[in-house]
Amino acid sequence: METTIGSDISKASQLLASDEIVAVPTETVYGLAGSVFSQKAVAEIFKVKNRPEFDPLIVHTFNTDEIRSKIALENDPRIDLIEDRFWPGPITIVVKKRPEISEIITAGLETVAIRIPDHPVLLDLLKAFKDPLAAPSANPFGYISPTTAEHVKDQLDGLIPYILEGGDCLVGIESTIIDLSSPTVRILRKGKILQEEIEDCLKESVEMVEYETRSSPGSFGKHYSPGVPCRAFERSQYPGIKKMGLNTGVIAFNQIFDDIPEENQLLLSPSGDLGEAAHNLYAHLREFDKENFDRILIEKVPNKGLGIAINDRIDRASTD
Ligand code: TXA
Ligand code: MG
Repeated sequence: METTIGSDISKASQLLASDEIVAVPTETVYGLAGSVFSQKAVAEIFKVKNRPEFDPLIVHTFNTDEIRSKIALENDPRIDLIEDRFWPGPITIVVKKRPEISEIITAGLETVAIRIPDHPVLLDLLKAFKDPLAAPSANPFGYISPTTAEHVKDQLDGLIPYILEGGDCLVGIESTIIDLSSPTVRILRKGKILQEEIEDCLKESVEMVEYETRSSPGSFGKHYSPGVPCRAFERSQYPGIKKMGLNTGVIAFNQIFDDIPEENQLLLSPSGDLGEAAHNLYAHLREFDKENFDRILIEKVPNKGLGIAINDRIDRASTD
């Protein structure tokens, strides 16, 4: 199969209507999309990603009417609160599903994860296609999520017919996931939208679920890893770590290390901006994963605001 990259929304829509899958841009990372009502497409997503069947997918749509009429079982008023404040945007809610949403998508769960993504190309496609799209991140299972169309092609070339071009993903890390189906709202995955913002929006307290204890399927601690051994570190630990190998690539936050060749270093954000750091994180990991380093060291960022989610992804990329 030939994989092409293009901007043709009607072509993408036609492929989806023929039960094919298409890679699509979002503001967080690229997704691998299929119609929620196509068993064939949904099965193909799991196959192409090599994703275990117990790891459920996120359903994407363009407005809350679609959520209520096609995806969510109950008319939870918090759906409107989330929309007013955050959607379209990088937050996913988990609610009880309608019976029409297949258990393949939800990995047998009675709940479904839903979001309205903030990307003009994908929103146009969702409106043209008219049905919701199931889409996990468009990476092979366990690898770093793609933030450009080229990243998708690097790994899924020959496996999917079409990649819809949408430029660089602005946010760069996956959406915050919150569970609205439990008695207390729980954050299942950290992201750009923060705990305190969600509490302020919903006017209720929100619990942070640590990965070791959370009950969500697919809640693997290690994830998003590059192929080369990767280790997270704090700047204060650095003198100990640098002795560990000469052929090391260092991804630092905002300042290079003087004792390492500059070509072996990348900065997440020279100006120390956390938004820029999130935007660059996966692209930098991919870039260094292609070099012949024995090891990648990656510096943690200040652990506040968006830095909390960035550090979560850095820890999960850390294999070493
Ligand atoms: O930003 C994002 O969310 C991106 C873009 C493409 O929208 N998508 C993404 O999907 O990161 P994926 O499949 O890589 O991660 C989806 C996560 C999984 O960890 C899965 O366990 C969780 O969502 N999830 C899906 N349905 C769930 C459910 N019913 N209950 C709990 N967790 C669920
Ligand atoms: Mg993923």
